[in-house]
Amino acid sequence: MEKLVIEGGKPLSGTIRIHGAKNAALPIMAAALLAEGRHTIGNVPDLLDIHVMLDILRELGCKADLSGDTVTVDTTSVSSSHIPEDLMRQMRSSVFLMGPLLARFGKVQLYQPGGCAIGERKINLHLQGLQALGAVVEETGSTIVCWANRLTGADVVLDFPSVGATENIMMAAVKAEGTTTIYNAAREPEIVDLQNFLIAMGARIIGAGTDTITIEGVSELQPCEYRVIPDRIVTGTFMVAAAATRGSVTLEKVNPAHLTSVTHVLKRAGVQIAVDGDIIHVSCHSRPKSLDRVVTAPHPGFPTDLQSQIMVFLSLADGVSVIKETIFEGRFKHVDELSRMGADIRVDLSSALVRGVPRLYGATVEATDLRAGAALVIAGLAARGTTVVEQVHHIDRGYDRIEAMLSSLGARISRESASYTRKTLLS
Ligand code: UD1
Repeated sequence: MEKLVIEGGKPLSGTIRIHGAKNAALPIMAAALLAEGRHTIGNVPDLLDIHVMLDILRELGCKADLSGDTVTVDTTSVSSSHIPEDLMRQMRSSVFLMGPLLARFGKVQLYQPGGCAIGERKINLHLQGLQALGAVVEETGSTIVCWANRLTGADVVLDFPSVGATENIMMAAVKAEGTTTIYNAAREPEIVDLQNFLIAMGARIIGAGTDTITIEGVSELQPCEYRVIPDRIVTGTFMVAAAATRGSVTLEKVNPAHLTSVTHVLKRAGVQIAVDGDIIHVSCHSRPKSLDRVVTAPHPGFPTDLQSQIMVFLSLADGVSVIKETIFEGRFKHVDELSRMGADIRVDLSSALVRGVPRLYGATVEATDLRAGAALVIAGLAARGTTVVEQVHHIDRGYDRIEAMLSSLGARISRESASYTRKTLLS
């Protein structure tokens, strides 16, 4: 087990390039199964979840590799549509393989991904969508088997604009007979990226980025070359880190249009943000203003994946802020850890009342999940004294060597093994 050791109190300063989006790359890698042949996918981050997806693709019979930031997937010799339980349990995103495997082989066997630290995370909407296209779903214990002699286009109305369900249904529908329309679809930029990848393979889809997506099934798709969008959550995390440390940071290779709500919230809190093409410059030189209401919502609302990070920032604000979490019921696990660092936060069901304090203090804290971990790193950077963030493997699922990126901005951060025998001081 590794931990991050942070000497706080140093404003971040400098320029970094943001890596590609994990949440776009994962469904795109799964979608590669839809076409026989060799795909090349660029701007893929070197993250734990990407490696789990590569392992699953290999297990299914693909040749799959990551070299630099490029994934190649050759799906010619896929021999199985059974996702092994141990790999399924390592990453919830393995559910993305359901739609493509069903579309290509007419059958898929997988396992309930189960709950996780941030909430129950059901897959009923995925299954209902696939059933609407004609799939039969059989659930026995934790095993799920879906099959369909043929998939047929249908109208699918989602009760909630689930990102994963929208993606799974899109991937199944591209090879279905006839037209599928998804109503109340998720509008996240990653859905647009998946649409663009599917179109590059020869699919006929319009509407991603709106709440109605229409897919006309085609019989054949071809492998293609594609480049994944920048990671908006990593971008947002570094924007908040720059602001929380009262620093001045330039983020390159980003898409500012994906971050409108985040920019809006940070500006309201007094952060200076300038946009120039694919560059965002963030600086903050005074104590943040409190915000009476930050509410997480499906895109284009404020992302739940940045809720814990913005909470750290507002815990240092001048006044009282309210943060409401509407997407995941269990997403306040970072609050107890932040309290250990001197934050004053009270949680009532899905709302957090954040009373700003003048400063946070270093402590030993535990990353309970990916984004909570990123938030604790920001807290450590802004705090006085030394912070140790344990369970770093959660953070490694979404940030490609976070300590290297931060140390290039002047942060005093190092990764240590639990036994303290291996130490990589980066600054
Ligand atoms: C994706 C992102 C995740 C992000 C989330 C919300 C990936 C790999 N992950 O997760 O980082 O936090 O979107 O922006 O892209 N729900 C159901 N039934 C379902 C599916 C979802 O009830 O079948 C509920 C979930 O429990 C949750 C809400 O819908 O409360 C949102 O989930 P969803 O949009 O599906 O998130 P993911 O695709 O899992």
